[in-house]
Amino acid sequence: MSAKVAFVGLGVMGFPMAGHLKARGYEVTVYNRTGAKADEWAKKHGGTTAPTPAAAAKDADFVMTMVGNDDDVLAVTTARDGVLAGMKKGAILVDHTTASADVARKVFAEARSKGIDFIDAPVSGGQAGAENGKLTVMCGGEAAPFERAKPVMDSYARAVTLLGPAGAGQLTKMVNQVCIAGLLQGLSEGIAFAEKAGLDPELVLDVISKGAAQSWQMENRGKTMHARKFDFGFAVDWMRKDLGIAMAEAKRNGAKLPVTEVVARYYDEISKSGGQRFDTSSLITRL
Ligand SMILES: NC(=O)c1ccc[n+]([C@@H]2O[C@H](COP(=O)([O-])OP(=O)(O)OC[C@H]3O[C@@H](n4cnc5c(N)ncnc54)[C@H](OP(=O)(O)O)[C@@H]3O)[C@@H](O)[C@H]2O)c1
Repeated sequence: MSAKVAFVGLGVMGFPMAGHLKARGYEVTVYNRTGAKADEWAKKHGGTTAPTPAAAAKDADFVMTMVGNDDDVLAVTTARDGVLAGMKKGAILVDHTTASADVARKVFAEARSKGIDFIDAPVSGGQAGAENGKLTVMCGGEAAPFERAKPVMDSYARAVTLLGPAGAGQLTKMVNQVCIAGLLQGLSEGIAFAEKAGLDPELVLDVISKGAAQSWQMENRGKTMHARKFDFGFAVDWMRKDLGIAMAEAKRNGAKLPVTEVVARYYDEISKSGGQRFDTSSLITRL
């Protein structure tokens, strides 16, 4: 594990992911826009910090980024002090941010022009998956760099899969979010119905989660939805970003997303009434 890895973006997800790399024995340099968080990371894990993304990426064999949205990805990759300004030829850039397929293709092309490989690699599994090192990583890019980067990503993942060319990882993450949105609305309606019907919702969930209605959301969120607890998990505003990306892509490829469009409006309502950081299971509050 003598490879040098740079990690840019030490938020809820990036902080523990970079920690797993250090624990695996990689030589890790981190950058975070808010410097105090990078210092905190280095104090906890013992790696080094850099003043800019470009400086962090200098000499690195692999550079991982985990920021917020499309603009943030461009700010830390293709912008003046972005990682592409510091990376050496033959190094591999992996972006774990959930972003558009367009931005993935753009960074891929710019990296390619500098002799650098790029993999778009959004993740699923949430904060717990990042902390436990059990993320699912959906990758887009070319096979040879993917094979080289996979062991690095294995440090924090239980599944790392190449799904197609640049952008395919982001397209797969869109499918993931579309599947979750409709399911969560259905689960909200079921639980609210059980409450109105005078049933014991916890007992109902115990029973039906052993049948065909079972889902990860039911198992992990059903009871907290009934208890109206939302101060954890995957934030409504992140989901609004992700569904926006999926709906824009669907406009281009002709896919129909009627339920997703409705649920996206419900999330807008929740966000406007103060639930920006609530978990996505907060859809039940509208019922
Ligand atoms: N949280 C989840 O459960 C989860 C699950 C799957 C996927 N994701 C996706 O993973 C990504 C990160 O999520 P998160 O929960 O870790 O977010 P977060 O806690 O808000 O962290 C975002 C990180 O990106 C940095 N950043 C944002 N904009 C930047 C910019 N323009 N320039 C430089 N740095 C910038 C932030 O720096 P500062 O510290 O300076 O703000 C912070 O380190 C998002 O795309 C999200 O949709 C999240």
